[in-house]
Parts: sequence; C-alpha cells; structure tokens
Amino acid sequence: MNTTTSTTEKLSPVELQFMADTVAGLKASPKFMQSKYFYDAHGDSLFQQIMDMDEYYLTNAEMDILKNYSEEIAKLISAENTAFDLIELGAGDATKSIHLLRALVARELEFSYLPVDISAHVIGDLEDNLPRQLPSLDIKGLNGDYLDMLGKVSSFSGRRKVVLFMGANIGNMNADQAVKFCAELKQSLAKGDLLIIGFDLKKDPRQILAAYNDAAGITSAFNLNLLERINRELDGDFNLGSFEHYASYDPGTGSCKSYLISLTDQLVHIGENETIQFSAHEPIFMEISQKYSIEEIEALAAGSGFRCQQHFFDENNYFADSIWVVDEHSAQVP
Ligand code: AVI
Repeated sequence: MNTTTSTTEKLSPVELQFMADTVAGLKASPKFMQSKYFYDAHGDSLFQQIMDMDEYYLTNAEMDILKNYSEEIAKLISAENTAFDLIELGAGDATKSIHLLRALVARELEFSYLPVDISAHVIGDLEDNLPRQLPSLDIKGLNGDYLDMLGKVSSFSGRRKVVLFMGANIGNMNADQAVKFCAELKQSLAKGDLLIIGFDLKKDPRQILAAYNDAAGITSAFNLNLLERINRELDGDFNLGSFEHYASYDPGTGSCKSYLISLTDQLVHIGENETIQFSAHEPIFMEISQKYSIEEIEALAAGSGFRCQQHFFDENNYFADSIWVVDEHSAQVP
C-alpha cells in the first residue's frame, strides 16, 4: 500500500461501487454479499468448473432442451413473420444458445443477435468465435448491465424483440427481486415480444443440495473466491481458512442458500478505514438459487405483465425453458 494515497482514492468507479456494496453488506445484520461479484476472471473459471461437475445437473438439463426443441422454439419465434432482435442476457459462451441460433439461421430469418454480458472479455470472445461457426449471423455484442443494455437496444431499434434469459439466472434473485426484474424488463418490450426464460425446477431435495455442496469443494472455492477478490481489489485481510462454505435447501420454499460461516471470533479489515467484526459461527449470506414449480413460474409471469405461452422440459423434468409473451392486457401498465 502506498502511504500517501488512501485505498478509496486509488479505486476505479466500478471498484468504488464494489467497495460500497461490500461494506454495506458486511455491516448489515445479518451479513450478506452480492453474488454478482463472484464473477472475476477466477470466479468465471470456477463457475465453468461448476457447470462441468457431475452434481451440477442444470447445464446438461438445459442443453438437452436446446438440443431437442430449438426447431420448435424457432418455429414459435417465426410465427410472426417480421424481422427481430434476439437479445441474450448473460450470454456466456453461447454453447446452449448456438442450437437456437443455428435453427433460426437455417430458417433464413431476418434477425440480429445481440448478446449482453457484464464481462467485456465474454463479449469479445463471442464476437470472435460465433461468426466462425455461423458466418451469416449478424452479431453485435453489448457489454454492460442487462436492463441498461436492453433499454439501449429498445431506444435505437424498432424491431420486435425476443429476449433470452437462460441458465436459471433468475434463480439468483429472491421472489421480490425476480418480479421487479421481470416487470422492469417488460418496460423495454412491446406487445407480442417474447421472453425465453430458464428455471431450475423443484425436485429431490438431496439432488439440489448436492449441486451446491459438491464433494470436490468447487462451490466452496467459488464462494471463498469472493473473499480473495476483496483482499486483492479492496485491500482486505480476510483469512480464507477462517471461513467455511455452508449450503442449505428448503424444499418448502424452494430456496437453496449458500453461506460462508466464520469459524472464530475475528476482525477483518477492508482498506484503511473499515473493520468488520465476526462472531464464531456467524454466517455471511452469499447467494440464493431459487427453485420453481410450474405454478410459481406462471404466477411470476402474470405478476410481471407476461403470459406463459409454452414450457419446454428436459427428458428428466429437471429444468424448464418457458416462453413468455408480453401480455396485451397489461402492456401499458408500469
Ligand atoms: C449462475 N447461477 C444460475 C448459478 C446457480 O445455480 O445459482 C450460480 C451458482 N452458484 C453456485 N453454483 C452455481
């Protein structure tokens, strides 16, 4: 540390926000962190390893849906025979959506693929790789916040919109956040526009818990990596060995929650000015991964101004990709 410059003076605007969110969460009671901060370069690579784990059934289940039903989904999208923007929120490496893109390109539909991701690195890779696999694809990546970027697209393009929000990312919001997010998303859409949204379904509680409590400890490393990120970027002094990953699943509510538990009474410093006190066994709530029933999916659609048109399931009924249409009866309601 440079003694003449304080920690906060050295931080970029993004890091300042990270600092403010971190300190606010750790000073709250109970303590919490925002799971969106999991995804630095090492977090991205740990999440890739999670998706490859035997216990993490979600990736294969949704892949199964895309492989089996892309033709049918493409047919639904092309039922209205007009040009459209296909906007994918959290596109990642598009290994699942490429099946749908292929089906749309094969139908010779007039559309642009606009993947949105918070990581510039992810967008750069997609713009490099996808045209090699699908030379006729019109792709323009957008780096930034999902809703900001969706609003931006709506302001410059009058085409109808098809939004993809897959990977059970909606599960990382609690019930209030999910309905608020979907309602805000709808504000950038018009009557008849589509949202294709992925949900992990309620199932054997042991199977769900195992996906977030894997034997090899990758999910534990994924959670602890956020403490390491705070140490590195915000000049923190978390001792990673003094915290332990704990996952729980409540089959009643469908909420799977991850915590880091402080193993001792301890003080942690962040930058020059912040000191956080932990008691032994005190939890930091790290992430929710909400599981849904079909009734709950339909209630979320109705509560945020959409109508469920169809659900597609994998062969085990672990996962659903649900097609929602902006409901004409509530299209004008804020
Ligand atoms: C990104 N998201 C849908 C993952 C999930 O299943 O909630 C993140 C994750 N956290 C731990 N394992 C996977």
